Amino acid sequence: MPKVNPFKPNDPVPTAMFAGRYDELIALEKGLYQTKHGQNSNFLITGERGIGKSSLLMYLKYVSSGDIETLEHGKFNFVTIPVVISDKTDLTTFIKLIEKNISRELGKIEKVRSFVADTWSFVQRLKIMDSGIDKSESNSEIDLIIDDFAYSVSETCKRITNPEKGEKIKDGIVFLIDEADNACPTLRLGYFFKVVTELLQHNSCNNVMFVVSGLPDVVDKLIASHESSVRIFSQLKIKELNEDDRKYVIDKGLDQANRLNSVSTTITNSAKVYISQLSEGYPHFIQQFAYSAFDQDSNNEITNEDVIEGAFKKGGAIDAIGDRYYVSAFRDKIKSDEYRQVLSIMADKMNAWIKKSEIREKFTGDEITLNNALQALTTRKIILKNPSKIGEYRLQQRGFALWIKLFGDRKK
Ligand SMILES: Nc1ncnc2c1ncn2[C@@H]1O[C@H](COP(=O)(O)OP(=O)(O)OP(=O)(O)O)[C@@H](O)[C@H]1O
Ligand SMILES: [Mg+2]
Repeated sequence: MPKVNPFKPNDPVPTAMFAGRYDELIALEKGLYQTKHGQNSNFLITGERGIGKSSLLMYLKYVSSGDIETLEHGKFNFVTIPVVISDKTDLTTFIKLIEKNISRELGKIEKVRSFVADTWSFVQRLKIMDSGIDKSESNSEIDLIIDDFAYSVSETCKRITNPEKGEKIKDGIVFLIDEADNACPTLRLGYFFKVVTELLQHNSCNNVMFVVSGLPDVVDKLIASHESSVRIFSQLKIKELNEDDRKYVIDKGLDQANRLNSVSTTITNSAKVYISQLSEGYPHFIQQFAYSAFDQDSNNEITNEDVIEGAFKKGGAIDAIGDRYYVSAFRDKIKSDEYRQVLSIMADKMNAWIKKSEIREKFTGDEITLNNALQALTTRKIILKNPSKIGEYRLQQRGFALWIKLFGDRKK
């Protein structure tokens, strides 16, 4: 009988399966508490692909808007505005997205609807910015837009925190801005945050929190846009999940499956440990290995064999993970077969350190090519250089090594 597979390798995790992140959640809810009481704080969430940034943001959305109780600070009641940045988002689009979300959130109440329409009316006059505008002109234009924006945010925030009769009081506004690493230089995101937060302070508006999330290089992008912009944020670096959290994800997934399906599924302890080890703590990998093992199982008990077959077969978990994360690094970003050969040699050691001399023994190219390869792969962050031992390198993840060995020589 077909069964609903509860694991979600490609979407932010549902709250019922959300694991770990205790320290981060405590920090964020403290920030919310401060912001509610007029001591606003902002956060920058960074981490590698698939580590769980969007999932944390989604969880925070439920927490800040009061759909979920916090761990230590009761319930909040913020207006929460999620925005996702793409590489095409310019300042006008960004502000229009925010305005749309605010109107949607607050427009349900008739009296507030006309207030929001008035307060945000400047947005209707904004035109998509012309990339041909000369620089000085566009700068002053940007300053005017940011000023209008900050004013509208403060007015909105004042209204919802001091509502008129019959309206429900809110704690303030939380902006959740995901994929900020996509920001193009012309969006000037760092400058935007720096100026907006200063203007909000000038307007005595202290109940607004910005939570920005992206790959680690978002930090450089913000700095490039405004040198001190990063200082307005507390940074939370998201890491791998520990072993208990990994098992929790699997258990909660199966609980969910057993609620949805008429036939129950169980898992052996060693299969659970196996998924946990294969995943190396990357939440995306836990979901993918668990998804593939669940899919592989045919007798309602997930065993080691199901995990292995689901992980290693063609079209299985490692193949799927490779498509998502490794194909571009291995085939598109690296144009030379010799560089790929270096990676294949390194993959024999999985993600353990390997000496350059060991690579040289197996490498068929010359010394200069090997040096160039190691240099280029390190610069592109495809491999790591041992900071404490000269001439040692390694692949970042075991999953990458496994994928290279299993599928690396497959043609495009
Ligand atoms: N705390 C968590 N508990 C359980 N599963 C999680 C958790 N965080 C993330 N996941 C799972 O990991 C996968 C990746 O999560 P998510 O999309 O949040 O990562 P991300 O860091 O935003 O990735 P990207 O850099 O690609 O945007 C998803 O399948 C999600 O369900
Ligand atoms: Mg994400």
